Amino acid sequence: MTAGGPDTGSPAGAEAAARARAAALRGQLRYHNHRYYVLDDPDIPDGDYDRLFRELVDLESRHPDLVTPDSPTQRVGAAPRPEFTQVRHRLPMISLDNAMDDADLAEFHRRVRSGLAATGEAAFTAEPKLDGLAVSIRFEQGALVQAATRGDGTTGEDITANVRTIQGVPLRLLGDDYPAVLEVRGEVYLPHAGFARMNAEALARGDKIFANPRNAAAGSLRQLDPRMTAARPLRFCCYGWGETSADPGASQFAMLQRLAGWGVPISRELRQVTGLTGCRDYFDDLGRRRESLGYDIDGVVFKLDRIPDQAALGATIHHPRWAIARKFPAQEALTVVEAVEFQVGRTGALTPVARLTPVAVGGVTVANATLHNMDEVERKDVRIGDSVSVRRAGDVIPEIVRVLPERRPPDAQSVVLPARCPVCGADVIRPAGEAVARCSGGLYCPAQRKEAIRHFASRKAMDIEGLGEKLIDQLVERGLVQEPADLYRLTQGQLAALERMGDKSAENLIAALARSRETSFARFIFALGIREVGEATAAALAAHFDSLAALMAAREADFLPTRGVRGVGPAAAQALQAWLLASPDAQATPDLGEWLAAQQIPGLNRAAAAALGAACGTLERLRGALPADLVGAGAGLVEGVGPVVAAHLVGFFAQAYNREAIERLIAAGIRWPAAAVTPGSPAGSQARPLAGKTFVITGTLSRPRDAFKAELESLGAKVTGSVSTATDFLLAGAAAGSKLNKAQELGVPIMTEEQLARLIADT
Ligand code: IVH
Repeated sequence: MTAGGPDTGSPAGAEAAARARAAALRGQLRYHNHRYYVLDDPDIPDGDYDRLFRELVDLESRHPDLVTPDSPTQRVGAAPRPEFTQVRHRLPMISLDNAMDDADLAEFHRRVRSGLAATGEAAFTAEPKLDGLAVSIRFEQGALVQAATRGDGTTGEDITANVRTIQGVPLRLLGDDYPAVLEVRGEVYLPHAGFARMNAEALARGDKIFANPRNAAAGSLRQLDPRMTAARPLRFCCYGWGETSADPGASQFAMLQRLAGWGVPISRELRQVTGLTGCRDYFDDLGRRRESLGYDIDGVVFKLDRIPDQAALGATIHHPRWAIARKFPAQEALTVVEAVEFQVGRTGALTPVARLTPVAVGGVTVANATLHNMDEVERKDVRIGDSVSVRRAGDVIPEIVRVLPERRPPDAQSVVLPARCPVCGADVIRPAGEAVARCSGGLYCPAQRKEAIRHFASRKAMDIEGLGEKLIDQLVERGLVQEPADLYRLTQGQLAALERMGDKSAENLIAALARSRETSFARFIFALGIREVGEATAAALAAHFDSLAALMAAREADFLPTRGVRGVGPAAAQALQAWLLASPDAQATPDLGEWLAAQQIPGLNRAAAAALGAACGTLERLRGALPADLVGAGAGLVEGVGPVVAAHLVGFFAQAYNREAIERLIAAGIRWPAAAVTPGSPAGSQARPLAGKTFVITGTLSRPRDAFKAELESLGAKVTGSVSTATDFLLAGAAAGSKLNKAQELGVPIMTEEQLARLIADT
């Protein structure tokens, strides 16, 4: 460093620059967080926000001492704890009195006025009564230091780590005029969109779903592992305060505005209203908009606005005398399950739907309720004939909250999952351990037709340009297209006659269809829309299976991971196989691993030898093992295919409808390079388990080579004369020479007669 030069080049200078940059980034991120999560009005694109965030993460990881607890990067990731500790509220968290109808509200208004002996109309704040959980959040010198549940009102639980993960809760207050101590109180809740997403994810995983957003919010907030809470889309809305060193001033409304100014989220529905009429108007208006708010509310809260008046009226031990919750009519009602039917969704999922004796719930007649899936039916133990409590929550579909077992009639019937799709009659499949049952008639089932065709035509599948959703709807609704193959029979005349289609666009679509016939094996597999077979898996399948016939004939075991031995790679397995072939008379000692290690087999280290010894036990079993038994691949045989996807694949191709739909596609002229397209009949393909595999035979075998050749060919394999990279297996007998060497050189798996026999028996 040059003496006397600027300090930024020195370690201390760099440190200072990093510190300044981190502080600047934190300030910017806090501002943007508030705009995004609280004001719902971001002023930079998400990508720019992400860049700032990443820069801070990066800076903090290089300078860990710069990390502050209130940094926006510290929202997630505290370690789980064994339990929650107790927090004593410095000011009790009391509840609200309820007004169940308009008369109750008028009575509240009368009491307030007489209590204050007021002249003129009283002003109130009006805001939604959110259906979530009350929490108290404490800031000291602007930093979030503690958050607690309401508990019994006096003592709650410390949920600081969880509340810190809630987007919109400031980890540090904005501005510089906040009080040294500030406890804000409000509701933690889950908006409908987040609730739907959480349940959809739970359904997809086969997990239990939450009955309503409130339960989901409560479950999320009480997670002992804050990382779980962080993954839930919770929100916070402040409606008041507890202990504070600030002077709250004279107006509830004005104080809430000040809190908002410090970055604390308040309700965007907060208003100031005047008199009983003002309260009623607000209640009616919010009631009308209730469904479109995007979160559950169960009423409206009115609070006397003047803080000195609040103090004059005081509180009972349960509730303040200056506030009231005007509740909406109950969203739950009792009715009877008359039947349970199964609906088939676009993706083939079967959803049980309860047909109910129609009942009014929250002003709307409810005649159906979703039961989501069979796990839910079993968990709630809903039977046909049961009396049930149904609930509507916001725009969430009505659902059965619980069964009243004491009212169950003796002839109540259990709900049974149908064996066949109620729409198309194909088998219904419910993989072991999964909650969702599905129709297997993928390409054929009318319920799935539009979706199947849309997927088939999509850009990453057959890429049929100009075949959009609206057009598909028309084609299916007019009966012109029932399955993908029908697309290729459409005429220009038929297309031109459709809505919003002219001669030119009809001509373009015919040309696009013609182009799409030339495709790739991977695209074709993807286009079939087999469950959980995405683009990458389709590509892996196309690379693994040489032909459509081989893929269609594959069994679950053909997709699944090798049963290999850990630490044994393909090279070691090969070296071992070659060595075993060359040493037919070798005799092992009882500890096979030790003995193998002592043989100094090139390419086989001590650890691998020990693992093989432990896995096989005897030399005989080692000789009989297939290469697949030995190589510890770790990953699946086909990338992306585990037992579930394998079951979907086998299930899909097992359906005659799907096989026929594929045959019709091939007949319509779909082709791809270097593929022998021979979709086999079930019998034919079952008998050709080695389809697409190339063998070379060498050495002395127990039967003439031609006998092996004929057998391999009858199983679908090709037998060639010389070893090359295109060879899949070398069948080697005693005294094998140059071909064995060549196979070793190229890494071609070597197989003994016994191994071949096992391979055939296994398939
Ligand atoms: S004020 C001193 N305002 O309702 C007054 N409470 O039934 C304390 N709640 O425990 C409460 N939205 O969890 C207030 N805008 C709102 C509210 C609200 C929901 C909850 C809160 C409270 C319960 C009382």
